[in-house]
Amino acid sequence: MTRLFDNGGTNKMTIIERIYKGLVRPRIFAASVNDAEIAHLWGLKQLERLQSSRIASALAERFLVHADPIFETTVFGLKFTNPFGLAAGYDKYCQVYWGGVPLCGWGFTEVGTITMLDQPGNPRPRMLRSLKHRAIYNAMGFNNPGAGQAALTMATNPPVRSGSVVGVSLGKSAKTPITQAAQDYVYSIETLAEEADYLAINVSSPNTVGLRQLQQLDAFNNLLSACMQANVMTAAKNMFTPRPLGIKLSPNETDETIADIVSVCRKHKVAFIIATNTTTNREGCDGWDIPADRGGVSGQPLKERAKEVLVFLRRELKGEIPLIGVGGVASGDDLYERITLGADLVQALTAWPFEGPDFVKRALKRLAFLLRRDGFHHVSEAVGTAL
Ligand SMILES: Cc1cc2nc3c(=O)[nH]c(=O)nc-3n(C[C@H](O)[C@H](O)[C@H](O)COP(=O)(O)O)c2cc1C
Repeated sequence: MTRLFDNGGTNKMTIIERIYKGLVRPRIFAASVNDAEIAHLWGLKQLERLQSSRIASALAERFLVHADPIFETTVFGLKFTNPFGLAAGYDKYCQVYWGGVPLCGWGFTEVGTITMLDQPGNPRPRMLRSLKHRAIYNAMGFNNPGAGQAALTMATNPPVRSGSVVGVSLGKSAKTPITQAAQDYVYSIETLAEEADYLAINVSSPNTVGLRQLQQLDAFNNLLSACMQANVMTAAKNMFTPRPLGIKLSPNETDETIADIVSVCRKHKVAFIIATNTTTNREGCDGWDIPADRGGVSGQPLKERAKEVLVFLRRELKGEIPLIGVGGVASGDDLYERITLGADLVQALTAWPFEGPDFVKRALKRLAFLLRRDGFHHVSEAVGTAL
């Protein structure tokens, strides 16, 4: 029976994949052609159903989770059962990080992006999808419940699977002027640090006016200084250890700017760098009717640039700061490639709705196969070996 649900690390289709791609996906995609958020909300609903049903949870645990000691890894002081996490932007309201996401096999979840103030984001439609390009366009604008509500939700919903790590992505509220950005992030750190396993400072979303200016040298230095201090002070005041705090980069910066960012990250001893957020570039999007001047693209059109930025960072840092690779990862082969290019951990988002519920299991089984084929005993041994 297990074999029906398991391709043993090959690229053969599983039963779950056949049903999803043949029956479920065509219907959901057809119903959300002009607004992919309909499909996104449907997916969230299914995950909420899954986590609230004991039987469904037990079935998911059996058929969607792939545990293997080869994946167990410690990065920036946290233990991960596997290195493949769900990227920020899926669980913006902290609805499914505790059950639905880990029950689909993800090793960690990054909730948010959360801002100091709750906000509705941009008007819909603000999410579009292209099956042909294997891509999502989004101009969500940080719709989220605000730091206070997110902290309450997280405090009352610890993850059901032990060992599943939950990071919180932090951004700036739309109403806060860019000159006061640091206070906005600091408030969110003070409010959310206790509930988070790690904190990711998002200065790279294209959908909040001026946000990416925070990647400029002086602004970035001041912001990181304030965030690091808030992290240490909050932990000391509440008697817990400071959370690993890292940043998420845009793929649209020049090598010079990225090198400057790296030097500031070194100075402040950030715990990790995530590469990358969505792209404002429209290369690889030919024939897809999306706005040229706003919003970000994820999935396959982003893949090559996300890999370039990762490689640049790995070469600059040589393992000094752990890296999380994200952008266009859609298979176990992609996952393996990202690790060998220098990623200690990998995230994905766009591929999930295209690939279906057993995406993570298939990718991990394939990763385990590739690691063993190439003589690695442990995933951490493969990091950066292609460079
Ligand atoms: C609909 C959508 C919403 C997103 N929202 C956020 C967000 O709130 N914060 C953030 O840091 N990244 C956000 N992202 C970017 C993803 O975390 C990720 O960096 C990007 O999509 C590239 O990965 P992928 O190609 O696997 O999707 C979002 C992406 C999508 C598609």
